[in-house]
Amino acid sequence: MASLPNSYAALRSIGAYVPEKILSNSDLEKMVDTTDEWIYKRTGIKERRIADKNESTSDMGAKAAAIAIERSGIKKEEIDLVICATVTPDYFNMPSTACIISKKLDIINVQAFDISAACSGFVYLLSIAKAFIESGMKKNILLIGAEKFSSIVDYTDRSTCILFGDGAGAAVVSATNDKSEAIIDVHASADGTYADFLVTPAPGSVNPANQKMLDKKLNFVQMKGNETFKLAVKTLTKDVIDILKRNNIKSEDIKHFVPHQANYRIIKAVGDALGMSKEQIVLTVQKYGNTSAASIPMAINDIYESGRLKSGDVMLLDTFGGGLTWASALVPFSPKKG
Ligand code: ACO
Repeated sequence: MASLPNSYAALRSIGAYVPEKILSNSDLEKMVDTTDEWIYKRTGIKERRIADKNESTSDMGAKAAAIAIERSGIKKEEIDLVICATVTPDYFNMPSTACIISKKLDIINVQAFDISAACSGFVYLLSIAKAFIESGMKKNILLIGAEKFSSIVDYTDRSTCILFGDGAGAAVVSATNDKSEAIIDVHASADGTYADFLVTPAPGSVNPANQKMLDKKLNFVQMKGNETFKLAVKTLTKDVIDILKRNNIKSEDIKHFVPHQANYRIIKAVGDALGMSKEQIVLTVQKYGNTSAASIPMAINDIYESGRLKSGDVMLLDTFGGGLTWASALVPFSPKKG
C-alpha cells in the first residue's frame, strides 16, 4: 500500500495574459477560403489573439506568472521550482523557456525546466507539481502554460490557421498539511502510435533546419483534424468518467468543468457524456481559440476574474493534444487563507 504523503499540493492562485491583437473569423475570410459560418459551426471559435512580432512565448508567460505570484500571497523568493509547458518555446533546443521566464521574474538559482506535451501540457505540469510536493522535494511551484502558436501556423492552410491562438496562463501550487485543500487526483497519459496526427515536422533531428525544410513548409503544424477529433472525444470521455469513478465523485459535485478549449463540439460531446449542465462548463474557445498548453489556465483565470471561481470550488480539468497526450485532474481552488 502506498504511504500517505507528509504534505499535499494545493492550487493557490491563477493568472493569465492575452495579447491585444484580435484575429477574427472575418479577418480569416480575407486570408483563406473559409467563412465565419463554417468556422463557428465546426469549432465554436469567433476570434483568437495573436502576439506582436516582438512578443515571445516567455514575454507572455512571464506576464501571466507575475499575476499568479501576486495573487498567491507567496513571495517570489519562496518559489523553489519553475516549470513551463510549451510547444512554441522561445528557442528550439535551448535555453528552456522556463529559464528565460525565471530570469525575467528575477527568480534565479532555482530549478527550472520545460515540458512538451502540447495541449495537455498544463495538466501534465500539475502531475509534476503534485509529485514534487508530496515527495517533500519542493514547497512552492510556479507553473506556466504559454504558447505563441502563431509562430508555427501556416496562414495559407485553412485547416489549421482557423483553430489556434496565442496566450499564457500560470498558477502557483504550494505545500499544505490541510487535505481538504489538496489537488485530489491527476491522471496523465500518452500514446505515440498516433504521433503523426499532430506534428511540426521541422526543425529537429529528423528534419534539421535547411532551405528544403522551409520550401516544404515543414516548420508549420500539420494535423489530421478529423481523426484527432474522433479520438479526442472517445479518449476524453473515458478518462473523465474514470477519474470521477476512481475518486467517488459525481458530475453534480463538480462546480466547474474546465475542458481544453480546442473545439466546442468536443467539449459538448464530453460534457453531455458526463451530464454536465451549461452552468458547469467553462467556455473560452469562442474568444481565444485553441491556445494549446495555455488553454486550461487561461480558462480557469476567466472564471476567477469574472468572480465565478470561489475558494473550495472543485474543478474537473480535461485535455487532449499532440503526442498524442491526454490528461484529467480533480482540483479544488485553494487560495491561501489569512
Ligand atoms: N473552411 C472551410 N472549409 C474547410 C476548412 C475551413 N477553414 N477547413 C477544412 N474545410 C473543409 C475540408 O476541406 C473538407 O472538405 P471536403 O469534404 O470537400 O474534403 C470539409 O471542410 C470537412 O473537413 P473535416 O476536416 O472533415 O472537418 P471536421 O468537421 O473534422 O472539422 C476540425 C475540422 C475543426 C479541424 C476538427 O476536425 C477538429 O477540431 N479536430 C480536432 C482538433 C484538436 O482537438 N486538436 C487537438 C489539440 S491541438 C494540439 O495539441 C496542439
